[in-house]
Amino acid sequence: MEIKKIGVIGAGQMGSGIAHVCALAGYDIKLNDISRERIESGLATINGNMVRQVNSERITEKQREASLARIEIAENLESFDDLDLVVESATEDEDIKRQIFADVCKVVRPDTIIGTNTSSISITRLAATTDRPEQFVGVHFMNPVPVMELVELIRGIATSDETYNAVRDVVAKLGKVPAASEDFPAFIVNRILLPMINEAVYTLYEGVGSVDSIDKCMRLGAHHPMGPLELADFIGLDTCLSIMQVLYEGLADTKYRPCPLLVKYVEAGWLGRKTQRGFYDYRGEEPVPTR
Ligand code: CAA
Repeated sequence: MEIKKIGVIGAGQMGSGIAHVCALAGYDIKLNDISRERIESGLATINGNMVRQVNSERITEKQREASLARIEIAENLESFDDLDLVVESATEDEDIKRQIFADVCKVVRPDTIIGTNTSSISITRLAATTDRPEQFVGVHFMNPVPVMELVELIRGIATSDETYNAVRDVVAKLGKVPAASEDFPAFIVNRILLPMINEAVYTLYEGVGSVDSIDKCMRLGAHHPMGPLELADFIGLDTCLSIMQVLYEGLADTKYRPCPLLVKYVEAGWLGRKTQRGFYDYRGEEPVPTR
């Protein structure tokens, strides 16, 4: 099956990035979220990031215009009846995702493939809530989507070869590299990355280092492009916490227990860049550590 039309559900950080790279690769996109304002804000993000790419001569102005014209606002899911692939990229909450799949299955064609950009939840379990587990696959993009080369592909127990291959072809057309991961909690990247971030929060919690010194150590001592706390703010502390909870519960091992300080930040609503405050405060000219 050749994929031409793609629906993206969720116009946040990840969904807008997915719509961005798919539109740039020539796919027709329908972008959906819970309100028109959110979709428009996602489109503004896409435009801003494309302008950046034009300025650094990675794409042309013509490509930017043509790509934006390929993205249609879908205020509800009714217009999803002509899509080849739907990629769900909503909040990392299993109940929300289940409800979305129930709604999507009612409107899409029987042969439409459903992909989820979940960063940690079982593909097999999500697939089982749909009417098409064979046509359901995990397609996990990395943030920032226009920059990062990798896409993890995760088969549920029932995912067919046709589905997997069709989505792998899309990833190749996006100019990204697919990596196969088995369907276990948090897959490969987050299984390794999130415990490191959680450990950085413990390092802060136990007073081993300050925000500044922890990030500096990992930037300069391990050549990470961002320090772990800066990266946590970039990913979103709520997302970090929910991935740690999935690891903790899914693997039943205390080594994955979320750091209480991470929980405290999330309870405060200090979720990182998206709320302008996390391990850093982003409200001024320069980010300032909050501890
Ligand atoms: N859209 C388009 N282009 C972007 C962009 C975006 N959102 N963000 C950055 N860029 C571009 C910049 O324009 C710049 O392009 P040029 O080289 O053409 O000038 C380039 O990327 C580098 O950006 P900057 O110069 O602004 O800054 P930088 O060198 O510090 O790089 C970064 C920024 C790419 C984000 C880098 O800091 C980095 O790689 N950080 C780590 C990111 C990471 O680990 N991501 C994975 C997170 S885990 C995940 O996503 C999985 C999950 O489920 C949680």
